[in-house]
Amino acid sequence: MADNTNTIKHVASALARQTLQDRNLTKPVAGVRPIRILPWLQVVKIGGRIIDRGAEAILPLVEEIRRLLPEHRLLILTGAGIRARHVYGVGLDLGLPVGSLAPLAASEAGQNGHILASLLAPEGVSYIEHPTIASQLAIHLQAARAVVGSAFPPYHHHEFPGSRIPPHRADTGAFLLADALGAAGLTIVEDVDGIYSEDPNGPQGGQARLLAEVDAAALLRQPGTLPVDRALPEVMANARHIERVQVVNGLVPGRLTAALRGEHVGTLIHTAASAA
Ligand SMILES: Nc1ncnc2c1ncn2[C@@H]1O[C@H](COP(=O)(O)OP(=O)(O)O)[C@@H](O)[C@H]1O
Ligand SMILES: [Mg+2]
Repeated sequence: MADNTNTIKHVASALARQTLQDRNLTKPVAGVRPIRILPWLQVVKIGGRIIDRGAEAILPLVEEIRRLLPEHRLLILTGAGIRARHVYGVGLDLGLPVGSLAPLAASEAGQNGHILASLLAPEGVSYIEHPTIASQLAIHLQAARAVVGSAFPPYHHHEFPGSRIPPHRADTGAFLLADALGAAGLTIVEDVDGIYSEDPNGPQGGQARLLAEVDAAALLRQPGTLPVDRALPEVMANARHIERVQVVNGLVPGRLTAALRGEHVGTLIHTAASAA
């Protein structure tokens, strides 16, 4: 019988004797630029507020997406809207922890995805769950021009306990996925023209100024409310691939099409990857 004990014990590994927490030691290995897994992929995140508006908002958007299919291969990710807000309200009133609220809200993002996928089913589009996105996205996108998934990141009961409302929501989830896949782009579809200096639908809405471009770091410092998760600009600080994300109005026909063609029709958020 061959004695291979020695070779098993001495598997060569650049990290074998090092703590993974020492940046100087891990840098020669970890400093390599990650590959782009799906460099031709366009990721589109659709906000729950669009879906909440029903047929009037959804059907024109579905038609626009249908016409985009010959041009792009899409991962369409849906967020949560009014039903998650309701569940947050009930859950917070009962004292549920953030880790219990996260999967409840995530389930609405999934429902919205199922709705959208049903409408796009005649084009071969289907809803796929996170494990399938993680392991079989490429084969699904060989079979169809687009697939739909939930934009909510699956932190669920592991959600960070800093605030009562889950901080990592659909915008963060969509960005994490797009950056990890090395996608060609991410477009966030909202019910406003982009990011403003303050809420355009708020009491001071008349003074709100549309930001054509903004750095993620500046967005993080912007006081008041945003139409994207606060965790999004935080995560953008460590982006590896996605250099800019465009926030566009999905209620205006043609804006998503223009954004996917590289036109500037909303707010461009520049991530730290652009500086790298
Ligand atoms: N600084 C801001 N710029 C633009 N919209 C804002 C801002 N602050 C708040 N909003 C509001 O955010 C709304 C979008 O809400 P949001 O929760 O992001 O929806 P969704 O779940 O669809 O992404 C807009 O209709 C707008 O009224
Ligand atoms: Mg939003």
